[in-house]
Amino acid sequence: ANEQLILGIESSCDETGAAVVSTTRGLLGEALASQTESHAKHGGVVPDLARDLHVAAMDDVVAEALRDANVSPEQLTAVAVTIGPGLSLCLKVGVAKATKLAHQYQLSFIPVHHMEAHALVARMPLHDDGGGGGGGGGGGGEDAVPSARARFPFICVLASGGHNLVTLCRGVGSHTILGLCLDDAMGEAFEKTARLLHLDASGPGGGGAALEKFATLGNPKAFPNLPVPLRNQRGPKTCDFSFAGLKTSVRMALEKELGEGWAPSDENASVRADLAAGFQRCAVKHLEERTDRACEWAKSLCKRDGLPAPRQLVLAGGVAANSSVRASIERICGANDLELVAPPPRWCTDNGVMVAWCGAERLLRDDGVLAPPETAEPLEGEK
Ligand code: KG4
Ligand code: ZN
Repeated sequence: ANEQLILGIESSCDETGAAVVSTTRGLLGEALASQTESHAKHGGVVPDLARDLHVAAMDDVVAEALRDANVSPEQLTAVAVTIGPGLSLCLKVGVAKATKLAHQYQLSFIPVHHMEAHALVARMPLHDDGGGGGGGGGGGGEDAVPSARARFPFICVLASGGHNLVTLCRGVGSHTILGLCLDDAMGEAFEKTARLLHLDASGPGGGGAALEKFATLGNPKAFPNLPVPLRNQRGPKTCDFSFAGLKTSVRMALEKELGEGWAPSDENASVRADLAAGFQRCAVKHLEERTDRACEWAKSLCKRDGLPAPRQLVLAGGVAANSSVRASIERICGANDLELVAPPPRWCTDNGVMVAWCGAERLLRDDGVLAPPETAEPLEGEK
């Protein structure tokens, strides 16, 4: 097959990412500049600061990805860029860079949906795959990527700091949302609860990882009244998520146990650890129950629509780093006869690789691929 090379650019939140992928060989090179530390002291992503840091990092990150791939811009076929969802100030930085490059080198321009990129990167062939394992799964007709790791239709569970989503991925540009987030995303709830418990969130994995570590010191059943969210929900069978109420329950339990103006001390460490463990138990249980329900629903949708049953579940997002999350999703996959596909952790969080790969999938189908821009200026409304 004739190989095509795609540069991908991601700048929707607090990671400046770029990568080059080949339609036949997968990943060729990647680069990432993370802003997480700069935002940590503000307790969350500050959009203006994020934009400035994207501007400062963008040229170098793109140059580094090209260098890492040993590819010059002239060899590219297309530039893919995240156009949303995300912080608009930040998205604009990536779009401006992509437009400029696409114009300068007369490359096709591929707008990418951030969530689709998270889901589809699980299909990217890995170098040592050697194309084996392809053909087997599902028997679901032709796939433009014969050695894709996840084969349509598959279920995707995404749990990160910004989003919580369960989808049935039917094909490129064809996804059914089975559940989304009604309030805080799971990672965000981990972060906010870590802050309530006065944990140090400055390490890798932020508040979520800090909470997981601290929870190992506690008894997850010490506060049996902490609620597993939406358990008694009536009405339509959605797989939506809600984590804000659970976080509030932790705050109220803390105030009840320790009084309102409490400060962290050795004496109250065990109460805090018990609440961390209890929070994690309920949050993971919620994710598990929703995922289980989504598996059943996805199967019935596929049956109704004459599609083969899903054979795989893709788990993505920074929260996938949590070992009890992994264990619970593995259990659900086992119970539903699904293979768990977990992309390497660095492609589960925001990155340029997923955007480049999503661009490759679109290019292979000539779906959503735009002509090279006529000017180097992004569309109207740019400063
Ligand atoms: O995917 P990601 O980079 O988020 C967004 O881009 O939105 O993942 C970051 C999120 C943060 O909310 C962090 O607290 C959470 O993933 N996280 C964890 C763990 N490691 C990272 N949450 C729970 N347990 C962990 N071990
Ligand atoms: Zn993301």
